[in-house]
Amino acid sequence: MSGARLPQVFLKLLGLVAPAVALTDAQRCVRLADTYIKNVHSLDTLYLPANESYRVPASCGMGLGDDLLAQTSVNVCVVNVICNTSSTSATRIEVWLPDADAWYGRILGTGGGGLGGCVDYDNLKYGPSVHFATFGHDGGHDGTSGAAFAKSDEIVVDYATRGLHVAAVTSKLLVRAYYGRPQDKAYYNGCSNGGRQGMRNAQDFPDDFDGILAGAPAFNFINLLAQSNIANLASHKLSDDDWALVRTEVLRQCDGLDGLHDEIVSDPDACQFLPEALLCEGEKRPDCLSLEQVEAVRTIHSPLYGDHGELLAPRLDPGAELDTLFWPLIFGPSFYLFGHEWWQYVVYNDSSWEPSPDFGLKEIADAKKRDAQLPVDSFSPDLSAFRKRGGKLLTYHGSRDILIPSGTSLWYYQRVQRALSLPPSAMDEFYRLFLVPGMSHCYMGAAASAWQIGQIGFSVWSNSSDSHALFALVDWVEKGSAPETLRGSTSVSVNTTVATPSTRRHCKYPARSVWKPDVQDWSCVQFP
Ligand SMILES: *[C@@H]1O[C@H](CO)[C@@H](O)[C@H](O)[C@H]1NC(C)=O
Ligand SMILES: *[C@@H]1O[C@H](CO)[C@@H](O)[C@H](O)[C@H]1NC(C)=O
Ligand SMILES: *[C@@H]1O[C@H](CO)[C@@H](O)[C@H](O)[C@H]1NC(C)=O
Ligand SMILES: *[C@@H]1O[C@H](CO)[C@@H](O)[C@H](O)[C@H]1NC(C)=O
Ligand SMILES: *[C@@H]1O[C@H](CO)[C@@H](O)[C@H](O)[C@H]1NC(C)=O
Repeated sequence: MSGARLPQVFLKLLGLVAPAVALTDAQRCVRLADTYIKNVHSLDTLYLPANESYRVPASCGMGLGDDLLAQTSVNVCVVNVICNTSSTSATRIEVWLPDADAWYGRILGTGGGGLGGCVDYDNLKYGPSVHFATFGHDGGHDGTSGAAFAKSDEIVVDYATRGLHVAAVTSKLLVRAYYGRPQDKAYYNGCSNGGRQGMRNAQDFPDDFDGILAGAPAFNFINLLAQSNIANLASHKLSDDDWALVRTEVLRQCDGLDGLHDEIVSDPDACQFLPEALLCEGEKRPDCLSLEQVEAVRTIHSPLYGDHGELLAPRLDPGAELDTLFWPLIFGPSFYLFGHEWWQYVVYNDSSWEPSPDFGLKEIADAKKRDAQLPVDSFSPDLSAFRKRGGKLLTYHGSRDILIPSGTSLWYYQRVQRALSLPPSAMDEFYRLFLVPGMSHCYMGAAASAWQIGQIGFSVWSNSSDSHALFALVDWVEKGSAPETLRGSTSVSVNTTVATPSTRRHCKYPARSVWKPDVQDWSCVQFP
């Protein structure tokens, strides 16, 4: 090859041939549609100039309006791929490639949310603007519902783990074809089910990504959904007014434990919430709870244990009931949607299934039996291969997450530490966990919560890597400089009776966040 090019160079130097006209990005994007990739049965490309929009080929998209129009602030080559993953399943993959001169050699992969097959356009829009070739995937089915799972077990396998892997492999091939060279580094960013997919990927396909940013992972999947179902049923014993009493009482008992009254329980582990403080003496009254209601609150605030006394799921974070964003989903009047659909379409394959009021260990056992054939649980603590290949895992969890208790992330971290027999310093080398006080599920939260840590495009308030989770991960992977803290920012200027700073350093587990009145700021304290 180089031999054949050499004479051309000499002729060119002699001025005997016109210089070959380099293809534009738009032309290379058209050509990219001819790329051959095994098992791919549809591959379309579209050159999308900056700020122009196109209608995505799907029924849903995270971060898009009902019009399903997507756009970003830089030019991208949009690639839509459908890849067969078995004889009865296929995953849709969408890759957004910034122009060659705007690409810094990095890939960013993303995941899903809920039971959905919705591509993460929040990250697709953001990634190329900060120079990543970015991809999303639908996890093997289109739409927000889990009904597709009843069609084939293979669709569940895509959702559980295969869809992301196939998307990573395919995207790397497309990157190579478009830019003429492979990526230098590959990253992943996902939250909730997307967080689970990231953690599961580190377990199953440790070579896919050099760095994984995973938020609020739904990784103890079956037990988590079961516990949410149980909590949902218990919550219906209280009226909205009763819940208001509980919220006030949680704050009364625990808000001040971190040193500051700001409607944030920074460290849920420090709070031993006692609902009996609300028990009426005698008749139920508006300012207290009946015994049955106190028991319901206690159920919701207790860990879930199995037949043999084993821990199945940590308790709800005390104070999480203050979250109004996701409240209707889990504690609304109807049954918990994700839990309903999982038992309907996956566990029992019976779309008419309805939960009984005593939903519990029997249904969990049924789900576990199904999970043994078709594992979606992603709680294996064996990260040894990911660690060995030098992978970095940066994780975060809000301390006011009503959908996935932050204790889940703490528990998994401890499980990994025990399973691999690692001292804290060795954990630090590849796996760091940050608890974000007052943050709700993945983002948003209490008024005083500094939840913006650059975990998603719309939460970027600073490009500095000590304040931007994705850039912190990049620095860790590429420069070996690991984040000790992550500085977050509140989304509104907070004006409480207490002067709360609008930015706050979040602590690396197991350090805890404590208010220091002398300096009027938060600090991270190691407890022995
Ligand atoms: C993918 O699957 C579809 C539907 O089952 C089939 O028609 C097609 O031939 C397959 N294509 C490839 C490349 O495997
Ligand atoms: C795209 O929109 C952004 C924000 O409105 C603007 O700053 C930028 O200049 C636009 N880019 C182009 C190429 O029009
Ligand atoms: C679920 O039931 C339907 C209708 O009976 C059947 O067609 C389908 O194959 C079943 N799904 C699985 C995964 O067994
Ligand atoms: C981050 O950097 C990008 C350019 O890379 C710039 O457009 C953006 O305004 C910066 N954001 C902040 C919050 O500094
Ligand atoms: C905050 O509250 C104080 C006292 O209520 C008021 O004087 C001040 O103007 C408020 N500041 C903002 C930024 O709203």
